[in-house]
Amino acid sequence: MTNSLHGQTALVTGSSSGIGAAVAQELGKRGANVVVNYRSDEDGARKVVGKILNYGSDTLALQGDVSNADDIQFLFSQTLKEFGKLDILVNNAGIQKDAPFRQMSLKEWEAVLAVNLTGQFLCAKQAVEIFCKQGVRENVSKAAGKIVCMSSVHEVIPWAGHVNYAAAKGGVQMFMKSLAQEVAHEKIRVNGIAPGAVATEINRDVWEDKDGRKKMLDLIPYGRIGDGEDVARAVAWLVSDDADYIVGTTLFVDGGMTLYPGFREGG
Ligand code: BGC
Repeated sequence: MTNSLHGQTALVTGSSSGIGAAVAQELGKRGANVVVNYRSDEDGARKVVGKILNYGSDTLALQGDVSNADDIQFLFSQTLKEFGKLDILVNNAGIQKDAPFRQMSLKEWEAVLAVNLTGQFLCAKQAVEIFCKQGVRENVSKAAGKIVCMSSVHEVIPWAGHVNYAAAKGGVQMFMKSLAQEVAHEKIRVNGIAPGAVATEINRDVWEDKDGRKKMLDLIPYGRIGDGEDVARAVAWLVSDDADYIVGTTLFVDGGMTLYPGFREGG
């Protein structure tokens, strides 16, 4: 089975809840050792660890803020200490701090850029260093390492009231592609996943509200809001050898949200 992740170690940032938790569990289910990183939700991380242990994979929860360089150095050194190797980084941690532009503070702008973009830079730096040193281990994977950058449909869809978030995700797209181009010759595959409306804590206020949910569904041609597993299965495939020739691509997992649904009629 080429998409088994047995013998590989994965680190998933921000995986105590939401999409990250689903990704960590899916990778564990497919046989990978998984480091569950969290910033503050230790309980959530413990639950994810429990589920992965039930799949028979090795796992541990590690605290660390992706926007803090010292935390990240510690996170990766602990990962190596525990598992000896690293094969997969899922740059997942992300936040929203929404506000109309005229009310958005510098603090809100900086906080989102720090986690959603600089966090990906700091983690990828550590992972690329490790992957280059390790090289390809034929019996494990065709690549020396795989990085998935969690983006969003908002890497291409402008989003009023969320300029910090959309700017960060637009940045993630070019960060991912530029890094992919730079390290592909080292046999490191860097790709992105762009989820659409996936029901998690980040957008609970919208999908829990009757009107908000309807408006959200109007933006999804496929007619349903996504769940973490929709994204997790795509990540699991992207990091497997089945996707070995996929380099520097964003895979949209969005039920068609990026298809300009407003143009279904008219235009
Ligand atoms: C955001 C969600 C939003 C979705 C679709 C995601 O990146 O985090 O809040 O529902 O994009 O707009």
